[in-house]
Amino acid sequence: MTTTPKMTETRSEEIVRKHKEFIWPAVTNYYQKPLVADHASMQYLWDIEGNKYLDFFGGIVTIGVGHCNPKITSKIKDQVDKLQHTSTLFPNEHIVALAEKIAQITPGKLQKSFFTSSGTEANEAAILLSRMVSPSFDIVSLRHAYSGGSALAKSVTAQAPWRKSGVVSVGISHAVNPYCYRCPLHLKYPECGVACANAAAPSAQDCGRSVLVSRSHMRWLPHAGDQQGRHGKVHDGNCERDGLRGPDSVL
Ligand SMILES: Cc1ncc(COP(=O)(O)O)c(C=O)c1O
Repeated sequence: MTTTPKMTETRSEEIVRKHKEFIWPAVTNYYQKPLVADHASMQYLWDIEGNKYLDFFGGIVTIGVGHCNPKITSKIKDQVDKLQHTSTLFPNEHIVALAEKIAQITPGKLQKSFFTSSGTEANEAAILLSRMVSPSFDIVSLRHAYSGGSALAKSVTAQAPWRKSGVVSVGISHAVNPYCYRCPLHLKYPECGVACANAAAPSAQDCGRSVLVSRSHMRWLPHAGDQQGRHGKVHDGNCERDGLRGPDSVL
């Protein structure tokens, strides 16, 4: 059933209305009147009505390099014109070149790459790999973490709106999130003695040997991180129990 357009509907209103009509409600927008993005260039973004914004939010992919950075888009355009899709059953020059470059710039023994098309798949692969190389099965994630939309990533996620329809979370526990602004333990740094990190360690202990601590929360809470030594503390705690620490897909 289609919705009836208002007589004086703006283009933004039309797109928001059709978004609700034709896209699953799982894909929600922020705000009652969401900004309908039209085009962008580096730090600027224009909405469909032509208003220009200095973009302080960006997207995960644009946050570091700007919108439509010509250095990047020109390479993408060249590749799409040259060779768009093949099976991974055959090698090609560019996938090997990228893997080689990553091997050169990553530390230590990190020499081999596995490419995925989404953060969800990257997290799936990280968990699979961790479980394969470790005798452990359990995963410690953090409250408020978002790890993706697959069944497993949904279980690692700890935000109710993204865990709809129930989850099967065998071997997954969620540790308290280090968040000074609204401390879940109602404490203040430094008097707290980094109690949040200590609270994470028992969860590794409770579930035996833990294989992965998701860093998802770091995206949302960029200020609440390593400078106060919490990651190191949790990391060390898990290592004592033969755990591994996995990176998050997006970071
Ligand atoms: C921290 C984090 N992990 C995982 C994901 C999942 O990525 P994707 O939507 O590409 O599957 C996201 C996506 O927003 C994310 O922010």
